[in-house]
Amino acid sequence: MADAAAPGAEGALPLCASADLAERGPALVFDVLLHGEPVRAFALRFDGVVVAYVNRCLHVPMEMDWVSGQFLDREQRFIVCATHGAEYEPADGRCVGGPCGRGRLTAVAVAECDGQVCWYPSRDIRPVLFDEPGAGSPP
Ligand code: FES
Repeated sequence: MADAAAPGAEGALPLCASADLAERGPALVFDVLLHGEPVRAFALRFDGVVVAYVNRCLHVPMEMDWVSGQFLDREQRFIVCATHGAEYEPADGRCVGGPCGRGRLTAVAVAECDGQVCWYPSRDIRPVLFDEPGAGSPP
């Protein structure tokens, strides 16, 4: 996956079963800390590969899905922001249309191993620990 640190064996956090992410199906939405700020991220399967990004549009820093977990456009070709229609390439998060400029979505490192999808924290993207101030209530 582009722009994400190559995952190693250490630090993997389980996300879901591989079978939970259907090809171009609904995304799994999960919570992370981006530079210490609670935000949502999402993982989806596109062309057989699981990709994950912070759920934050480059145009205006807001979440992109009107319906939770629905990120792909009608043709299931691009990740689309529901607010003003910015389009992103699912494979690498690059802006390909609309008001998102030349940037790309913030990638979250993910990998599949033994039927499980895992994500990998980085210096900037950390797991939410529910005893952290402002992290919300435990499930
Ligand atoms: S907020 Fe996403 S396109 Fe404007």
